[in-house]
Amino acid sequence: MGDACKYAVVTGANRGIGFETVKQLANSGVTVFLTARDEKRGTEAMYLLNEQGFSNVVFHQLDVQDAQSIESLTKFIQTQYGRLDILVNNAGASGVVPDEDVLRAMNMDLVDWLPGKTFDDIQVVMKTMYESAKLCLDTNYYGVKNVTEALLPLLQNSPSPRIVNVSSHRGALNRMPNEERRKELGDIENLTEDKIDEILQKILYDLKQDSLEVNGWQMMLPAYSVSKVSLNAYTQILARKYPKICINCVHPGFVNTDITWHRGTMPVEEGAEGPVMLALLPDGGPSGCYFDHTVLAEF
Ligand SMILES: NC(=O)c1ccc[n+]([C@@H]2O[C@H](COP(=O)([O-])OP(=O)(O)OC[C@H]3O[C@@H](n4cnc5c(N)ncnc54)[C@H](OP(=O)(O)O)[C@@H]3O)[C@@H](O)[C@H]2O)c1
Repeated sequence: MGDACKYAVVTGANRGIGFETVKQLANSGVTVFLTARDEKRGTEAMYLLNEQGFSNVVFHQLDVQDAQSIESLTKFIQTQYGRLDILVNNAGASGVVPDEDVLRAMNMDLVDWLPGKTFDDIQVVMKTMYESAKLCLDTNYYGVKNVTEALLPLLQNSPSPRIVNVSSHRGALNRMPNEERRKELGDIENLTEDKIDEILQKILYDLKQDSLEVNGWQMMLPAYSVSKVSLNAYTQILARKYPKICINCVHPGFVNTDITWHRGTMPVEEGAEGPVMLALLPDGGPSGCYFDHTVLAEF
């Protein structure tokens, strides 16, 4: 099968890494469904790429938190194309409510930002509220899960299906302070989706009780971090369940997008390289793995 007749879905693709992933996949000859929750933003993004010569980019609305929206996209692809070759689960939310003016005024040094040294400073501008944390888990974990489950039958109609979950180094197991929880989430042989649900319920409960720290949750971006650890675990569970599909997750790098308040050091062109490489893996490539940019790494 040549690339010309491959079909891909990219979620959260109206801006940032998702938009660039669509562009690079389209440039490789893949027909890409650029999806976005907002019709206007998504259509504008599609036109931008169409104007640049990528007539193989088609917009379809998708809010990863909305069951009806997921169903509508699935029916559209089923009816029009009958199969899907690539799913890039890219849409993401930070889980914090930032005060952007204060953040900019602080003009923090990136070298300090990266290892989280300026945590106390960052806490001042990044508040993890219950609603923002829930939205983060619903987008970054349950959104991926629901979209993937809906599209799996179409992916199984592909001769070379690929799923790419855009994760983060914030979801690295060794960043989790609580040893017991680290073991639970790292014990892939025994980990189940139900167990992940329990862990996500627990962080929301602890957040409500204002007891995150005492219960050993990571204090830097707590909801975001646990959403991505869970996504990494889900990737491995899924890869084990569907050995014919290449299913991997990737930290794209520290990329200059809205989610990093444009403090990321990498341009989107580089940030999309990992997701695109994994979307175009040749048959027999790795599955159930974690990549740091384009390099195989430890979970
Ligand atoms: N940038 C980095 O340094 C970095 C590092 C590690 C991981 N990541 C991951 O990379 C992915 C892309 O992030 P980015 O840097 O490109 O951030 P971004 O520029 O903020 O883009 C986020 C995208 O997700 C979409 N989105 C949010 N909620 C959605 C929903 N419910 N349904 C559909 N789309 C939704 C947004 O749509 P709207 O425009 O409608 O809000 C937007 O298109 C995320 O998963 C993020 O966690 C990024």
